[in-house]
Amino acid sequence: MSRTLISGGTVVNATGTCLADVLVDGETIAAIVAPGSGVAEAIGRRGVDRVINASGKYVIPGGVDAHTHMEMPFAGTTASDTFETGTRAAAWGGTTTIIDFAVQTAGQNPLTQYELWQRKADGNCAIDYGFHQILSDVQDSSLDAMDELIREGVTSFKFFMAYKGVFLSDDGQILRGMQRAADNGALIMMHAENGSVIDVLVQQAIQRGDTAPYYHGTSRPWQAEEEATHRAIMLADLTGAPLYIVHVSAKQAVEQIAAARDRGQNVFAETCPQYLYLSLEEHLGAPGFDGAKWVCSTPLRARAEGHQEHMWQGLRTNDLQVVSTDHCPFCMTGQKEMGLGDFSKIPNGMGTVEHRMDLLYQGVVLGKISLPRWVELCSTTPARMFGLYGRKGVLQPGADADIVVYDPNGHTSIGLGKTHHMNMDHSSWEGFEINGHVDTVISRGKVVVDDGIYHGKPGHGSYLRRGLSQYLI
Ligand code: URP
Ligand code: ZN
Ligand code: ZN
Repeated sequence: MSRTLISGGTVVNATGTCLADVLVDGETIAAIVAPGSGVAEAIGRRGVDRVINASGKYVIPGGVDAHTHMEMPFAGTTASDTFETGTRAAAWGGTTTIIDFAVQTAGQNPLTQYELWQRKADGNCAIDYGFHQILSDVQDSSLDAMDELIREGVTSFKFFMAYKGVFLSDDGQILRGMQRAADNGALIMMHAENGSVIDVLVQQAIQRGDTAPYYHGTSRPWQAEEEATHRAIMLADLTGAPLYIVHVSAKQAVEQIAAARDRGQNVFAETCPQYLYLSLEEHLGAPGFDGAKWVCSTPLRARAEGHQEHMWQGLRTNDLQVVSTDHCPFCMTGQKEMGLGDFSKIPNGMGTVEHRMDLLYQGVVLGKISLPRWVELCSTTPARMFGLYGRKGVLQPGADADIVVYDPNGHTSIGLGKTHHMNMDHSSWEGFEINGHVDTVISRGKVVVDDGIYHGKPGHGSYLRRGLSQYLI
């Protein structure tokens, strides 16, 4: 078993920072000790295979991205990152765990679908991975399947209030799923948009000739997100189920979530980097068909309405607890261009898995969040929320050695030419300049990225059988 000493860095956990040396022994962290205490030197004399000098740098727990869609079939095509390419890109960006979604659409057996997703990932991932299960067809058998999946380590289930005929579950179906979750301890994840309202607005826009990507945003207004968020919260309250709202973009939805939390309800929520930085006006409204790069749902919101600043505020005040990517990339050629002349045919989703740690670190640089809060939002809370904490999300003896050495004085230029590693023919983050740099990434004790060189391999990543949410026990 190989031993690595990461010396002289500033160790950042969600609880605070300290100067410390980190000793990795095999796949786990063996010790975190004060530099100069002689302990590291004593260990060194017994022999380490490698010393990484982290002085002047941050040493943080590897990122946990709790919302990705590798090779997901969607809108007549398939998300362009496979488990192999997507987890490699994640590793480049300092993310060492993803939780992806196994997908059940109407008529399918959730257990069969889960096995299918296991086969897609098995032997292909560069970093560790787990699964949530999407349920779109709530039958007695799918409720029973929830219990079975929990035993497999799939402890969270996503329902959709939009995408009729594909993913949408009606309120009665959602209610039944929540009733079961209240019994079996699962966490319900919700895509909260009023699908019927959106379907009418989309149809009306197309009939008017408003077919450009910009109208994807205007036909999914914040009212549709606020209303669905409120409805999901009421259904959760009725059943006693815990609720996690995914990809929140509207400030009014955050207000609903904050109010529910203030009433004492177990309601949690994530936002994504796109809702912090990108907008309806500048991105969806880009000239020609370029806005298609930023078609995702919930949609980018109007900057003039203040949603982006409100998301930052929610992250600071803990009205929002997690930042995930909702990584669901599609190329412009052959995929996004399916919606030329009709925005409703543009596959929904964008690619961010490689950039989340960098993009959120800019919040530290800009004084919007603290250094420990960066780690908490990107690693610690997602690990706790989805039953991985202790192994993931923290630097402590006994934890998996998933470690990132991050250089606050480094620089990263995103997307210019083809500097990213996601399987996309463009970058939604083209031109973003990052103060900071992911120098070294260690996944379960193995250096996978170091000094601009990739050392990972498909199959290193293991399936994570997750426990119940550690926010509920
Ligand atoms: O546009 C998105 N978000 N695509 C992925 C599917 C989803 O709703 O999360
Ligand atoms: Zn969704
Ligand atoms: Zn998603």
